Amino acid sequence: MRAFIIPLIFLAGLVGAVDRSNFKTCEQAAFCKRHRTEEKRPEYNVVVDSVKANETGLNAVLESSINKLSLQVVLLEDSIVRILVDEAGTPLRPRFQPLIALDGEPKQARPTALESNPESASFVTPSGNKIILNYKPFRIDFFNSKKELIVSVNSKNLLKFEHFREKPADANNDDGFWEETFKSHKDSKPYGSSSVGVDISFVGYKFLYGLPEHADTVALRSTTNQEPYRLYNLDVFEYELGNGMSLYGAVPYVIANNPSQTVGAFWLNAAETWVDVASSTADKGVLASLVDKFKASKDVPTVDVHFISESGVIDLFILLGPKPADVFRQYAGLTGKYPLPPQFSIAYHQCRWNYNDEQDVAQVNAGFDEHDVPMDAIWLDIEHTDGKKYFTWDPVKFANPIKMLENLASKGRKLITISDPHIKKDDNYPVYKEAKDQGLFVKNADGSDYEGHCWPGASSYLDYLNPAVRNYWASQYHFDKYQGTTKDLFIWNDMNEPSVFSGPEVTMHKDARHHGDWEHRDIHNIYGFLHTISTHQGLVERSDKKIRPFILTRSFFSGSQRVAAVWTGDNMAEWSHLKASIPMMLSLSIGGIPHVGADVGGFFKNVDENLLVRWYQTGAFSPFFRAHAHIDCKRREPWLYSTETLNAIREAIRTRYAFLPYWYTLFYEHSVTGKPILRPLWAEFPEDESSYDEEREFLVGNGLLVRPVTEPDVQQVSLYLPGKKEVWYEWFNDKTRPAPGAVYVDTPLNRIPIFQRGGTIIPIRGRARRSSAQMRNDPITLYVAISMKDFANGTLYLDDGETYDYQNGQFLYWGFTYKKTSEFLYTITSKNLDPKGELDPDVYIEKIVLRGVRYYPRNIHLYYDDYNPENLEFEHDRDQHLVTIRKPGAYVSREWRIDIHT
Ligand code: GLC
Repeated sequence: MRAFIIPLIFLAGLVGAVDRSNFKTCEQAAFCKRHRTEEKRPEYNVVVDSVKANETGLNAVLESSINKLSLQVVLLEDSIVRILVDEAGTPLRPRFQPLIALDGEPKQARPTALESNPESASFVTPSGNKIILNYKPFRIDFFNSKKELIVSVNSKNLLKFEHFREKPADANNDDGFWEETFKSHKDSKPYGSSSVGVDISFVGYKFLYGLPEHADTVALRSTTNQEPYRLYNLDVFEYELGNGMSLYGAVPYVIANNPSQTVGAFWLNAAETWVDVASSTADKGVLASLVDKFKASKDVPTVDVHFISESGVIDLFILLGPKPADVFRQYAGLTGKYPLPPQFSIAYHQCRWNYNDEQDVAQVNAGFDEHDVPMDAIWLDIEHTDGKKYFTWDPVKFANPIKMLENLASKGRKLITISDPHIKKDDNYPVYKEAKDQGLFVKNADGSDYEGHCWPGASSYLDYLNPAVRNYWASQYHFDKYQGTTKDLFIWNDMNEPSVFSGPEVTMHKDARHHGDWEHRDIHNIYGFLHTISTHQGLVERSDKKIRPFILTRSFFSGSQRVAAVWTGDNMAEWSHLKASIPMMLSLSIGGIPHVGADVGGFFKNVDENLLVRWYQTGAFSPFFRAHAHIDCKRREPWLYSTETLNAIREAIRTRYAFLPYWYTLFYEHSVTGKPILRPLWAEFPEDESSYDEEREFLVGNGLLVRPVTEPDVQQVSLYLPGKKEVWYEWFNDKTRPAPGAVYVDTPLNRIPIFQRGGTIIPIRGRARRSSAQMRNDPITLYVAISMKDFANGTLYLDDGETYDYQNGQFLYWGFTYKKTSEFLYTITSKNLDPKGELDPDVYIEKIVLRGVRYYPRNIHLYYDDYNPENLEFEHDRDQHLVTIRKPGAYVSREWRIDIHT
């Protein structure tokens, strides 16, 4: 029996800081402590005779005084090297690999120039990187095509691999090897400890990014003399900022960037993981001689990372770049991209815990129309169900859900309901009864159904590791099962770390059992991912593969982007949390998860109007844009505030809607290239070192720089414009600003500091509507920001916004280019970038705004072919260097040319 004590902290409404005593430190996690502090660590050597080259790499045996390990170094396509280390021989138990994180089996490639000598073996990749496996001690070095050392694995000799062993009769448990307790919880560890760890050095780097999710800086800090970053998905009540404590999701992946090269390392392990990060220089230790050979000075900055996981194998992918876009593509190639989402999901969402009943929903829905605020979706939190039984409706408060859905749908709006993985223990609840009878729940170590406390009280947890359970859960979404729903209902998966109020660290016991005889310890960090995979399957199935699903999840792992959007959980209505949302979203974005956002307004605590407005303005430029609040917070619908606040919120949301064509195009492009949508400055300006730790601001795509206001009552903010010989235009007043440089901009309450990068063309839609669906055929305005080289280009993607028909040609993807054609002629042209796109909607360009015009246009002509030019009207604001071409009337899906004669 587990102890069912509901910690007081879960009683809604109390506000304080995180209770750290509920969560382990590295010192309190026996395996972490051993890996981190063990001094006399036996060295591993490569057994020379064991080294075998094969078509795609090298295999070998590693040996220490403790055990033997099998090593595979495999070259993958697109400059990725995979290093796999497992127990050699026939281990007592297999080790878990979370292969579900991979988007299919990575394709292997053939190396060239395989060589070996008594000390090492090496090969060269098609892009000219050399990989050297050193034998004594074991170390793998990676060189770039300029022969510079960039990455080294195990140069600090931190490789430690605890093999499975029989428990000796007189087992000594001093170091928690065979059993551990935390607070009142015992972890029985029937197989002993099977932890793994190794170090990776990034040579020539000062900055490292990644490892979401932490409420911390985007550039990873050194953890020397501090707690390591922890990756163990947890429901942390009132999380604190500025530390490496675990949060809801885990992406064990880091990226290093310097002016000449970007590289990444992905540690594919789903068990509890701790990561130490330390800055050093490569002037000491084994790397010194290597650096000496290839670099002028040994004083080369280096970031050392130490990954430590509680179980599983070492499955490490080194992504060799060399540029940020290459690393993003390489990681997306491994773990997948976010498929094109339905358009409503990137518009504005209205949520709170809870909208109380159908009348409440109807009033909120009407309120948005009365106050002319666009909105695309209303959300229903746990109280909408019949006693927290998911897939049910409260029979009194939500007696006619179909009518409610239809009412929303008539305005082009959607409904999102919550569906958590804990299943109320109640034999009258069919999901519980069926799952119990069919054995679909996670089990205790003794084989009985695992039980814990969550929102419904005593609950069991479905074992999503089992494909049959995923099928079962998916089927619960089918229209015949999930009654009262239509195709306009989408899903929110929460509490899926999983959150177990009565469990150790508010989660599941590690010795709980999953399908295939895996322990919860092995799979913990993919539990939420599996939950969302199953929900995704359900939504696809229920629409007969016609409608694109939308799922929001709190817990995630590498690969979650293939099925869900992510939000940063239970933040607080405080300025510091608004500020922290930027690095948090950036880390997720570069971690391969593009559809991310934070609760607008802050979840806990009441929000003041100033903060709320600034949060809406930040949300308007976050990929996922949803207002949400705790059940005890005052109502927050925008019209409940002063007119000034309402106006500013309306303006922020309308700005989001205006930019939707740009956002939608970016989501489409991500689904093809894997590039993040929200980008840190270095992702576009990898050579601009001043931008490396910038986290007050971010880029949306390559064209927009956004610097949200994250402090109260400021009249001005400073920001940094990156790039060399670049020019930026202030969006709302067209002022030209040269880069690189720091600038100050005025920030009255209704102003969001945004800048368009010279050289880009951004499509927007200027007409205010109730929902994004109603904008589908609205005309487009193109903003052309002219670069120092008299050039600009941009793209536009459009489709029906909700079905999979785009996969059968029902889309358009066009490019627009502005350039100087001859001394007195500038042209703008449109071009079909993907001839497979057959969509030819009645969408035309109603306006073209040219920023940075340094000449005097005499006349402007539109050509659909080389004949019959149409004379276009335009205005020229000489002071602002602005030309506005009114009503060019050119269709977005036709080839045309606009000539500007000077
Ligand atoms: C969790 C979620 C929060 C939700 C609440 C009730 O705390 O993070 O967003 O409102 O549960 O379902």
